[in-house]
This record gives sequence, C-alpha cells and structure tokens, in this order.
Amino acid sequence: MVNLGILVSGGGTNLQAIIDSIEANRLDASIRLVFSNNPNAYALDRARRHGLPSKVLLKEDFPSREAYDNEAVKALKDSGVELVILAGFMRLITKPFLDAFPMRIMNIHPSLLPSFPGLDVQKKAVEWGVKFSGCTVHFVDEGLDSGPIIIQAVVPVLEDDTPEILSQRILKEEHRIYPQAIQLFSEGRLEVKGRRVFVRDGHADAGPLENPRVTIF
Ligand code: GAR
Repeated sequence: MVNLGILVSGGGTNLQAIIDSIEANRLDASIRLVFSNNPNAYALDRARRHGLPSKVLLKEDFPSREAYDNEAVKALKDSGVELVILAGFMRLITKPFLDAFPMRIMNIHPSLLPSFPGLDVQKKAVEWGVKFSGCTVHFVDEGLDSGPIIIQAVVPVLEDDTPEILSQRILKEEHRIYPQAIQLFSEGRLEVKGRRVFVRDGHADAGPLENPRVTIF
C-alpha cells in the first residue's frame, strides 16, 4: 500500500484511471491529496465526485517557484503522501520539491522518451514522420522529462493520423501503464541504479515490431 499525492492541471483522465484501478482493487494505493495549480481543472471535479481531498495553489500568490513548491510539499507531507504522481501537471518541479521526495515523484509523458520531451509532442511525432510513438512513465529528476524510465508502451503512428487521433491512442496506453507503474512501486519491485530502473519479476515482450508491416520478404 502506498499513499499518493496526485498533481493535475487539466482534464485528469490519468487521475481517473488511477481512481478506477484503486476502486477495482487492482492498485494497492490510497489517494491522500489531489493538488492543482489550476482552479478550473476538470480533474478537480473528478476528485470531488470520488470524495477525494483536493488543494489548489495559484502561482500568482507566491514570490518564486521555490516558495510555491515549499508550500506544495508541506501540503503533501501534511497529508501523509509517500509517492507524488504528476498526471498532466504542467509546471516544472524545483529542487526543494525533488529533495523532499527523492525518487518518489513519477511523471507520465506522451512520447517514447528521450524522443520528443516538452510540449505538443504528439504533433511533433506526426510531423517528424516517426512510425511508432507511445508513452513513458519515469521518475522525475532535475531535467525536463529526463529521469529514469520505469515503463514504456508503444503505439503505431498511422499515415492518416492527426495529433488528436494519435493523442487518444497514446492516452489509452497511459491509462494502462501508469497504474501498473504505481502498483510496482507499491509492491516494492522497482530498483533504481543510476539511470536504469529494474523491475523485479518483470518480463519483456519478445519479438520485433514494425510499422508499416510489409510482406516483401
Ligand atoms: C497526458 O497525455 C500526459 O501524458 C500529458 O498531459 C496529458 C494529461 O492528460 N503530460 C505531459 O505532457 C507532461 N509533460 P490528463 O489530464 O487527461 O491525464
């Protein structure tokens, strides 16, 4: 069992996937606080509907990023949070926050990192012409989308994809692998060695993927 603080800025479909996994007894975790920088985030409605405590801090009420993060850390610690889950939280985390939760902050990102860090990445994947994209759950470090990778899921990029269609295909996988990564943490099965995360009793799908699949040979 692990106590979660979930940080959101937008729609909160990943928050919903985590709530659903807990309610279905697939995920051994308890959501202690849903935290947002955006008072209008639909994710906050989701939290209310499920009776979860929430807190909003506005950036304009703080003199610096660090001051904001110190207050956020206090709220999370006061709620007994052990693992921080960034679920569409569109703010960079500063050092005091990282130091308060060392290797205890996870993020999900809608690309196969280290390809396409940052914003608008589904559009960038379509425009670049990559044949596969996907999503990455990783621990957060000082860099942008650069911490040790826990799980990735791959989806094909199809020739008539728009960024919106690709986003939906990726989101479906996000909703699957984020609760899985949290469950692995909860079971104590994640071991971080440098940049690499080892999953006790995990296994890889063997076999290559190709897209487009052609039948020449
Ligand atoms: C998700 O696609 C998540 O991967 C992305 O924001 C979306 C949030 O959706 N996060 C990032 O781009 C962080 N760099 P949600 O609010 O419906 O969970």
